[in-house]
Amino acid sequence: MANKDYILGVNEYELKRLGFQHGVWKEITDAFLDKIGIRHGWKVLDAGSGPGFVALELLNKVGTYGEVTALEPSEMYINHFRDTCQRQGLKNTKFILGKVEDARLPENYFDFVFARWVIGFVPDPEKFVEKLKKALAPRGIIAIQDYAFHGLFLYPRGGAYENFAPAVEAYWKYTGGDLRIAPRIPLIFKKLGIELLSFHPNSLAGGPQSGVFQWHHSFITHHVPLMVKKGIISQSTGAAILKDWNEHMNNPDSIFFSPIVVNISGKVA
Ligand SMILES: C[S@@+](CC[C@H](N)C(=O)[O-])C[C@H]1O[C@@H](n2cnc3c(N)ncnc32)[C@H](O)[C@@H]1O
Repeated sequence: MANKDYILGVNEYELKRLGFQHGVWKEITDAFLDKIGIRHGWKVLDAGSGPGFVALELLNKVGTYGEVTALEPSEMYINHFRDTCQRQGLKNTKFILGKVEDARLPENYFDFVFARWVIGFVPDPEKFVEKLKKALAPRGIIAIQDYAFHGLFLYPRGGAYENFAPAVEAYWKYTGGDLRIAPRIPLIFKKLGIELLSFHPNSLAGGPQSGVFQWHHSFITHHVPLMVKKGIISQSTGAAILKDWNEHMNNPDSIFFSPIVVNISGKVA
């Protein structure tokens, strides 16, 4: 199934970018997963697993008696994870090709459901969480990592880069997503009877040589031209944003602050 609604697209460039992104944010995801205390033997769902970078780490945590199901609408990404598992001889994995909203998921089954950078893309986040809740076993845990897009900024300030945040928010909205999804999630949990366990914001910052700066560089240089192509921003706005960004890239005193990524976890009764 092709996920035509997925704004970032699925291709080799994006696969590599997601891999690099995983490395940059790994420490934060690892700390979140450690805090949750995933046990050997757990049945885990990675919803919107992409190429399976976190799913692979989850496999280590659940051990050979546990299992990890990767659910992902992109055939290319799920095949990438399938190939990784085959190469590494990992057998306790399951693969579901599809979107969370449409997928046939077992009910009352998973001990843990995880979704990193997925719910921000979906037009109906409540439906998304409700579907995942049904798949959770009693006292199962749901964990979400996603953006509260405020906080993003580039120092020294005042250049055309200041127009980037509204542009990228419009990019997510183009297919019905919301880059400011994180603060909406506790209320969704409340409506669905999920007990909120944690809500913890994270940010990364660094100069041009840092991983977080390079991470944003790989996003902005690829996606700003696509925003122009889709008519989300004008050619001149796109060019000015990239010029300002590249000037900061060549200024060793620049600092980039990432948008806030919130770790959110909840428990069902
Ligand atoms: C930014 S990537 C994140 C991938 C992975 N979770 C990670 O952290 O590396 C977003 C992924 O969500 C998937 N996706 C988008 N909409 C989805 C939906 N409705 N249900 C499940 N996955 C979805 C995309 O195909 C893509 O692989």
